[in-house]
Amino acid sequence: MNPVESEAREPGAVRPGRSVHIAGIGSYAPERVLTNQELEKMVDTTDEWIMTRSGIRERRIAAEGQSTSDLGAEAARAALADAGLGPGDVDLIIVATASPDMLFPSTACQLQHKLGARKVAAFDISAACSGFIYALEVGRQFVASGAHDTVLVVGADKLSSITDWTDRATCVLFGDAAGAVVLRHEPGRRGILSTLLGADGSQKEILNVPAGGSAMPATEQTVRDRMHCIRMSGREVFKLAVNAMLGAAREALAKSGLSLDEISCVIPHQANMRIIEAISDRLGIGMERFQVNLQQYGNTSAASIPVALDEAVKRGRIKRGDNVLLVAFGGGLTWGSAVLQW
Ligand code: UT7
Repeated sequence: MNPVESEAREPGAVRPGRSVHIAGIGSYAPERVLTNQELEKMVDTTDEWIMTRSGIRERRIAAEGQSTSDLGAEAARAALADAGLGPGDVDLIIVATASPDMLFPSTACQLQHKLGARKVAAFDISAACSGFIYALEVGRQFVASGAHDTVLVVGADKLSSITDWTDRATCVLFGDAAGAVVLRHEPGRRGILSTLLGADGSQKEILNVPAGGSAMPATEQTVRDRMHCIRMSGREVFKLAVNAMLGAAREALAKSGLSLDEISCVIPHQANMRIIEAISDRLGIGMERFQVNLQQYGNTSAASIPVALDEAVKRGRIKRGDNVLLVAFGGGLTWGSAVLQW
């Protein structure tokens, strides 16, 4: 039985769940590459600063007219193909994003239509860079409970659409991409062993998009002041990110019943090489067991974990039966971690 399944039941308590595994995975990054050298011409920065402070060399930027749901639909098609399924097999669609196509309808509804899926329930989850782990856990619950059999979970972000391209402190960090997984139950496969989610709503000032919502509706002034773009106090976020990711990883591991030695691969949120190195150091898992691709993609928010996971699987770094630790941190503040048996 999975640690996420519970044994003793009382009336009204959650029913024991079915095990849930990732039956298919796929990812997508737009073709256009934006290099550090190009950014040197746009803002007062250097390749050397970006590389030493973040580890990022280049990032992908969505094409004109390509929205978050377009990126997500590409990743979803790949994940469904990997699972040997088609859009008609999907029972539920969950999209994690911080850069939705519109305030509403949801990006998940747009993705359902673009995918040609049936008119099944579709909704978004807002947990910024932790969004994929949040969506994974929500999707898992639906499969575990038996409410749905095939849940499509997508992490997609087009952060280039909410990036202030005049702010050197943030514009060098972000990129566009999407990753998707198909969640199913299969007798005998353990899949998701444990999850841990958390949030601290008191820290909204250090990472947010101030305008465009009900708190600060769009005006000419908000547009002039670029308040529809990401604002971040990098140094503060950095410190909190390391501690929150360490706590989340340790708790998810403890819940899974596995030891650090049993983890073959760690997939951290790809925000900053120094954050990942600090986690590796303090967790006591060598960097050789971490999948890192931020050099090529930058911080792709909700897409970062499924894109890196897909890469690790496709490169044969994660094999059937391997234990994998996912850990993320993002605006909210939010954090999340999951332990999977592949
Ligand atoms: O995904 C959601 C979670 N987000 C994160 O996890 C991001 C966390 N934070 C970070 O990754 C790092 O804090 C950054 C990469 C954003 C910044 O690195 P830092 O070492 O914390 O630098 P800093 O913000 O303290 O800035 C150091 C200096 C400042 O100059 P002064 O005040 O020391 O003169 C900045 O103005 O670097 C300056 N600076 C830059 N210089 C050249 C900031 N951005 C740039 C730039 N190029 N692009």
